[in-house]
Amino acid sequence: PIARHAHPPVTPGIDWSDETALAALARALATQPAPQHAMPMLASGTPEPGPVLFIANPASPSQAVGTMQTASPADIAAACQTATSFAPLWSALPTAERASVLECAADLIAAQRDALLPLLCREAGKTLPAALGEIREAADFCRYYAREARRQWPERMPSALGPVAAISPWNFPLAIFVGQIAAALVVGNPVLAKPAEETPLTAALAVRLLWQAGVPHAALQLLPGGPEVGEALTRHPAIRGVLFTGSLPAAQAIHRTLAAGDARRPLIAETGGMNAMLVDSSALPEQVVQDVLDSAFDSAGQRCSALRVLCLPAATAERITHLLRAAMRELQVGDPCRLDTDVGPLISADALSRVSAALRGFIEQGQPVHQAPLQVEQGHFMAPALVEISHLARLPGEIFGPVLAVLRYRHEELPGLLAELNARQYGLTLAVASRCPSFVEQVAAAVRVGNVYVNRNQIGAVVGHQPFGGERLSGTGPKAGGPWLLWRLLRNADPCGEP
Ligand code: SER
Repeated sequence: PIARHAHPPVTPGIDWSDETALAALARALATQPAPQHAMPMLASGTPEPGPVLFIANPASPSQAVGTMQTASPADIAAACQTATSFAPLWSALPTAERASVLECAADLIAAQRDALLPLLCREAGKTLPAALGEIREAADFCRYYAREARRQWPERMPSALGPVAAISPWNFPLAIFVGQIAAALVVGNPVLAKPAEETPLTAALAVRLLWQAGVPHAALQLLPGGPEVGEALTRHPAIRGVLFTGSLPAAQAIHRTLAAGDARRPLIAETGGMNAMLVDSSALPEQVVQDVLDSAFDSAGQRCSALRVLCLPAATAERITHLLRAAMRELQVGDPCRLDTDVGPLISADALSRVSAALRGFIEQGQPVHQAPLQVEQGHFMAPALVEISHLARLPGEIFGPVLAVLRYRHEELPGLLAELNARQYGLTLAVASRCPSFVEQVAAAVRVGNVYVNRNQIGAVVGHQPFGGERLSGTGPKAGGPWLLWRLLRNADPCGEP
C-alpha cells in the first residue's frame, strides 16, 4: 500500500564532505552539558520529592550526566486520572489540529539538534552518525504519523482508545520514545510515557520540546523509573493500550498482565531478533564486509535489527572472513563524542558482563573467537568480536552487543539452514547478499521475518519507506513507521482492506 502514495518526506541529513558542518558538529559534541535532572512531568503540577538515581555516562561511568527522580505510585495515579479526564477533549479535536502540533514538534526536534546530540552521546553512548540518525528518525515519525492521520481520516476519525502507556528502550531513547508518543497522540490518545531507566534525560528533553510544540500537558506526561513503573502503569485500569519496545521477557510479562485484566486492551510490542545475513558465492566480498560492519557493530550491536549470524558459502567464506577480520581491526572503539569513533560503549556494566559471559561461553565450547585488543581503559567498552560457529544450535539466543557469529554452509545445506533459522522463532530482520535473483527469492520466501534487505545493511529502517517490525517472538506488529499502526491505536477500527 505504501508505494501507491507519494513518498513520505525524510528529514535531511548532513553532507559528510562539508568540513564547516563537521566542525560545528564537533563543537556541539564537545559541549559538556550541565548535569540534567529528569523527574515526573505531570499536568497536575510538580510531584512530591521521591527517590533520586544517578545517570551515568556509559563511556565514563564516574561522570554525572544527571539524575532521575522515579515516579511514585501517587504520581502514576495522578497522571492516569488527568489523562482519563482529558481523553474525550483530545480525541474530539479535528485530525488537522493534532497533526499540526506534531509537525511543529518535528521542526523543533530538528532545530534542537545541537542540544540533543551531546545528550544522546553521553547518556546513551551514541556515536555521531547514530545520534544524528535518531534525531532525524524522531522528526520523521512525527511528520509521518501526522501525514498519515490527515490522509486516512481527513474528516472523521474512529474513537481513540483512551490513555495509552508508551514504554520505550534505552537504545533509541529519542526515536522510539517520540515515535510511540506521536503515533498514539495523533489519533487522539493521551500518553503516559515511561522511558528506559538508563535514558530518562533525553526523554525529559523530548517531552519539553513536544510540550513547547503545543502538545497539551494533559495529553503527554512523563513517568521516569524502572520496570516497577512500567508494571504499575500496565496494571492500571485507566490504561487502554500499551506500546512497548524492549526485551522479550518484558513484553511477555506485559502481555500476561494485560490478559489477566481487561483483555480488550491491545499490546503493540517490538522485541529482539536472531537476525541473519545469507550470502551466496555471487555476492561482492567487499560490499558484504561493509554491510556486515554496519549491521553487526553499529551502535555496538545494540539494535534489535542488528546482524547476529552471518551465513557464508563455503566457496568464499575464507576470503570474506579474512577481509572482515582485517576491517574489524580498523574500527575505532571509544569515546562516542569523538567524530572518528566507530563503536561506542555498551549501555551498562551489567550489559557488558552479560555480553562478555556469552563470549566466554563460546571460548569454553572451543569455538574460534577473533577480537582485536581494546585500547580504552575505562567505560563499558568491548571490542567487536567474531565467533566461528559450527552449527546454529551453538547460538545461545540474542546476544545484545558487538558479537557476530559466522557460520559456513555448503549449497546443499541451504534448505536445512533456512528451516533452522525459522525454528529459532524470532523474525525481525534478514539480509541477503547475492547477485543471483533466484537465490534472493529463495531465501526471502523461506525465512519468516518482518524486514528483508537485499545487498545492503539491515539496520536503520527509514520511517514511511521501510515500515519496521517483526513477527512471532520479535513482535506483535503493526510495524512502526507504517500505515497500519495507527489503526491499532483506535477503538473498534478495522481498515477493511488497506489503510
Ligand atoms: N528501527 C531500527 C532499525 O531499523 C531498530 O529499532 O535499526
